[in-house]
Amino acid sequence: MTTSTTPILVTGGTGTLGGHVVPLLRAAGHEVRILSRHSRASVSDPGIEYVAVDLLTGAGIEPALAGVDTVLHLAGANKGDDRATRNLVRAAKRAGVRHLVHISVIGADTMPLGWFRTQLAAEREVTESGIAWTMLRAAQFHDLVLTMVEKMAKLPVVPVPGGLRFQPVDSREVAARLVELALGDPAGLVPDLAGPTVYGLGDLVRGYLKAVGKRRPQLPLPMPGKTGRAYRAGDNLSLDSADTGKRTWEQFLAERVGGSGSWG
Ligand SMILES: NC(=O)c1ccc[n+]([C@@H]2O[C@H](COP(=O)([O-])OP(=O)(O)OC[C@H]3O[C@@H](n4cnc5c(N)ncnc54)[C@H](OP(=O)(O)O)[C@@H]3O)[C@@H](O)[C@H]2O)c1
Repeated sequence: MTTSTTPILVTGGTGTLGGHVVPLLRAAGHEVRILSRHSRASVSDPGIEYVAVDLLTGAGIEPALAGVDTVLHLAGANKGDDRATRNLVRAAKRAGVRHLVHISVIGADTMPLGWFRTQLAAEREVTESGIAWTMLRAAQFHDLVLTMVEKMAKLPVVPVPGGLRFQPVDSREVAARLVELALGDPAGLVPDLAGPTVYGLGDLVRGYLKAVGKRRPQLPLPMPGKTGRAYRAGDNLSLDSADTGKRTWEQFLAERVGGSGSWG
């Protein structure tokens, strides 16, 4: 394999999305530097290097960016993504990074919930950085939805807030899109990437229960307030996108939990 001498820095390279992105970059012949909070002593692939930095403090970040032209910023957590992004962006600017690729979420600009607001603030750190950037907003990954419905299905009765819909997308497809973007020229905000089908939360739960051969009654609940209104309006969806991911929730379930994954 030929390798480029300039490593691509992937923050969050140890996460779900990053775990798909890194091998694609390697397959395209690029060296990869993975930034996460944890160091790793031994690496079997000499084209991969790990650097341990907590982006929430940004302490010791400079060496992570040394000699880097392109950064794929995939690190994310429940809290503090705006601060983490600010620390990354400031260091990237000082290091002369030429292309900053950022993953965000559909609804960052519309959903009235704290986590989405933080994502919007993180987006602004990127768009106002002065570094040439590309940004992709994705829908919830199948993996995240699976974690959510697995927890819900542990309850004897599954509460299902009405009007809550999702358009889950396969994280491998998001990874492939991001790699394409990272290897291209900075493109600004690109079209959203959501999955091929919109599901009510109850459908997602039913599909999971069927795939694992369980039965649970569902309890529909009202979802009041502006959050309920935003979900009912589909602010977390990408309803008019012509270009969606291909892999469905049913296909993901069939792979991941083994069942047929389809329901009638
Ligand atoms: N999951 C979804 O449905 C979804 C949908 C749209 C957009 N996104 C965005 O896509 C990105 C990746 O999501 P994911 O599901 O792959 O996340 P994930 O599996 O939870 O992985 C998060 C990654 O971020 C790193 N990280 C977290 N806090 C950090 C910190 N303070 N400093 C440095 N690294 C830190 C983690 O590394 P260590 O634990 O090794 O430190 C890990 O590699 C996130 O930005 C998320 O907001 C996700």
